[in-house]
Amino acid sequence: MQDLNFLLYAAPGHQTCALAWQKQLSDLNVHTQIEWVDEINARFLRFHPELGLIVDEHGLWLAANGMKMQPAWQAEIPRLKRASPKNELIARACQVNKVETILDATAGLGHDGLLLAWLGAKVTLLERHPVLFALLLSALEQAKQDPLLSDVAQRIELLHVDAEHYLDLADIASDQYDVIYLDPMFPARDANQKQEKKQAQVKKQMQLLHTLLPVDGVMDLGENLLKQARLKCSRVIVKRPKHAVFLADQVPQHQWQGDACRFDGYFQI
Ligand SMILES: C[S@@+](CC[C@H](N)C(=O)[O-])C[C@H]1O[C@@H](n2cnc3c(N)ncnc32)[C@H](O)[C@@H]1O
Repeated sequence: MQDLNFLLYAAPGHQTCALAWQKQLSDLNVHTQIEWVDEINARFLRFHPELGLIVDEHGLWLAANGMKMQPAWQAEIPRLKRASPKNELIARACQVNKVETILDATAGLGHDGLLLAWLGAKVTLLERHPVLFALLLSALEQAKQDPLLSDVAQRIELLHVDAEHYLDLADIASDQYDVIYLDPMFPARDANQKQEKKQAQVKKQMQLLHTLLPVDGVMDLGENLLKQARLKCSRVIVKRPKHAVFLADQVPQHQWQGDACRFDGYFQI
């Protein structure tokens, strides 16, 4: 992936943090120029609509189009508290009450991985985009300090790697993970959709994610990942928008249907 350049806005009192993030981002080939800002509020964001990064007391944020966003792990707590292996489709699809280890090969904001870890699984998150990875790192650090999330955070491992390379590694044994979970990018409005349904408004966070991705101008829809995952795991679960075509045109053995999305299951027979 090419080197990226960002402005890094730092709020007062966060100089040390901003410098630490600048170093961490530079190690990920994300080059930043720090701008010290008196107050980062809604007005500031409106007047700085270009893509940028922010450091404040809540860690690292991505900003664009007058909004800022970070993996909302703390905001997920009410949902996590209601979640059970039975009432969450993703948990049923991943059999979270029966398995130990899950590889979430397309981490994104980490919300799905966090839920699976909350329900007891040891989850490895893979994210290849350096900025997304840094945002996840920040979310994981914050979670470790949160009394409600600290135990869950201990069950989450985060790796900055392309899942295609990772799954290719010879030392990733075929029984290393009980489940491989895939939620690859999906175009905001997808020409592949079988049914021309009016799409629900993509969540604001997802809109920002789409601003960040793709970096190279071409959105990778994860077609190769399914084949590789199936070679390494006997249970692969793919999240898809409800009416989307199958990933890589592969027909799943089972489907779990939700209101907005579905989970396609691929099992070794
Ligand atoms: C739709 S988002 C996943 C959202 C996630 N399930 C959540 O709960 O937030 C897809 C993410 O997968 C990442 N991704 C796609 N292909 C990847 C690959 N080959 N290796 C690692 N990450 C990948 C993208 O960078 C993006 O952040």
